[in-house]
Amino acid sequence: MSELNKIALKILEKGRGILAADESNGTMTKRLEGVKILSTPENRLLFRETLFSASGMTKYIGGVILYDETIRQKTSKNRMIPELISEMGSTPGIKVDTGAKVLAGSPNEKITEGLDGLRERLKEYYKLGARFTKWRGVYSISKNYPSKLSIQSNAHALARYSALVQETNMVPIVEPELLMDGEHSSRECFSKTSEVIKKCFEELILHKVDLKGILLKPNMILSGNKSKDKISNEEVAKLTLKCLKNSVPSEVPGIAFLSGGQSEIEATENLDLINKYNDTDFIMSFSYGRALQQSALKYWSKDIHNSEGSQQIFNHRAKMNALAAQGKWSKDLEN
Ligand code: 13P
Repeated sequence: MSELNKIALKILEKGRGILAADESNGTMTKRLEGVKILSTPENRLLFRETLFSASGMTKYIGGVILYDETIRQKTSKNRMIPELISEMGSTPGIKVDTGAKVLAGSPNEKITEGLDGLRERLKEYYKLGARFTKWRGVYSISKNYPSKLSIQSNAHALARYSALVQETNMVPIVEPELLMDGEHSSRECFSKTSEVIKKCFEELILHKVDLKGILLKPNMILSGNKSKDKISNEEVAKLTLKCLKNSVPSEVPGIAFLSGGQSEIEATENLDLINKYNDTDFIMSFSYGRALQQSALKYWSKDIHNSEGSQQIFNHRAKMNALAAQGKWSKDLEN
């Protein structure tokens, strides 16, 4: 077993998943202002340290994706953040793209940037303790989108990123996110997600990326949030499995879904059903941002120096998702 394959499997072992705490300062400011907290480096750290030192980290969270600011910060006990994460039994990771910008040639779409100077940045992140990374390509769905140009160019960037990350002995998370925003049906989400993922693997293979040493972070197959096409959670699970079975090579050790704007319970329930129906060899787990943090953040905002209550809320969500990653969740466990 290669070193990278071992890291990937360890992150997702025994139902564990990933905490995506890599919101850029811009996104984190929106989240904090949403609960009336001033977005300062100190407050961003305080909330994140609250989560990273919660007891649920040890059993349920195998990896934490950090943002550049956070990986360089020190805890209240004067330890580096990646050290705290490792001590909790989890693996530190880092978002390495520099964000999605307007795609020249198709101005309604985005291309993710960050390849220039990436090799040097990766070496520094490795020294700071990171053992896996994330890069997110983002696509909107409508009649003409995502375009061939966006599918091709984002797949190319994801592959070049992955090759560089593996060269630095870290596991790349490959994240092509087709957004939930819009009027599209679940069928459209299914066909476009399949096309995007297939193109990503075509490019990953071309760039000689070791597929056993990556993790895929896809969206689930959902209908658009403004769509009339409402489908059941069972259908979400079945369509998601069908899409991944047809588009992901069997070497890939694990798939960790993003929550993408689903409610906390919805994201857990869908993951649970995916695992109840899972007839593949892929580990199917979570790499949630909002669906792991929303309630904890709301509670924390009432008294930011009292960490206990928000840690309990976070521990519960982490546990529910870890059960869902094994198909062992049920609604009555939520009470
Ligand atoms: P959400 O789970 O909130 O979609 O965030 C996951 C993520 O990392 C998006 O890039």
